[in-house]
Amino acid sequence: MSSKGIVLSAKNISKSYNGKQIFKDINLQLYKGKSIAILGASGSGKTTLLHILSTLDSSSTGDLNIHQQPITKKTDKAYIRNQHIGMIFQAYHLIEQLSPLDNILLPIKISRSSTKPKSTFYQRALTLLETLQILHLKDQQTSTLSGGEKQRVAIARALINNPSIVFADEPTGNLDNKNTQLIQGLLFDLCSKYEKNLVIVTHNQTVASFADERYHLVNNTLCNG
Ligand SMILES: Nc1ncnc2c1ncn2[C@@H]1O[C@H](COP(=O)(O)OP(=O)(O)O)[C@@H](O)[C@H]1O
Ligand SMILES: [Mg+2]
Repeated sequence: MSSKGIVLSAKNISKSYNGKQIFKDINLQLYKGKSIAILGASGSGKTTLLHILSTLDSSSTGDLNIHQQPITKKTDKAYIRNQHIGMIFQAYHLIEQLSPLDNILLPIKISRSSTKPKSTFYQRALTLLETLQILHLKDQQTSTLSGGEKQRVAIARALINNPSIVFADEPTGNLDNKNTQLIQGLLFDLCSKYEKNLVIVTHNQTVASFADERYHLVNNTLCNG
């Protein structure tokens, strides 16, 4: 496939903290519309890698390109994230005192680049809440929601800006079986429906089996398969 089909490319990415190497020479290419799952033991560096790929953290060495744009020290990474990236954190990172609707609209409120009227995003938030089957909770205080409900709010927040790449860090890690199936279905369905790339870190083999490609972070490197 030509480089035009590549949404994200990582070349020889390495990361060390205080001289301790977490991983080295990681190479990864993400093709338009594809999903990948990253598996690995606790402490193997999955979250660190996800944060580097999503520009939240910097690699020690290596090159990252997102939509053909090299990400360097000078790149406005907040802008790149706002334009292209949706992030679902394991611990939700929601503002508990706000309602689900206000949490979902937060990326719009802090965006410097949006030219669309706010009402467009309000409508989109309502549609996402409906798709995720939590429309009836939109004005409730987020702190009162269950884990599965909070995760659905976090998914809607990640999608509100219509990002091309969605990163999800163990999105079902804190959920029971029933909610795991629900969230897994919603994530993969939403990403295929809206043609988004999904990069999902998971311990769950069933969840990983839904991805187009699977990688294992083992012995400080990323292996395909
Ligand atoms: N900010 C940091 N400073 C120092 N060490 C860190 C930092 N973040 C993560 N680490 C270390 O990097 C390793 C990988 O962590 P992490 O990426 O969270 O692994 P995983 O998500 O696979 O459980 C761990 O040994 C962790 O202690
Ligand atoms: Mg982690």
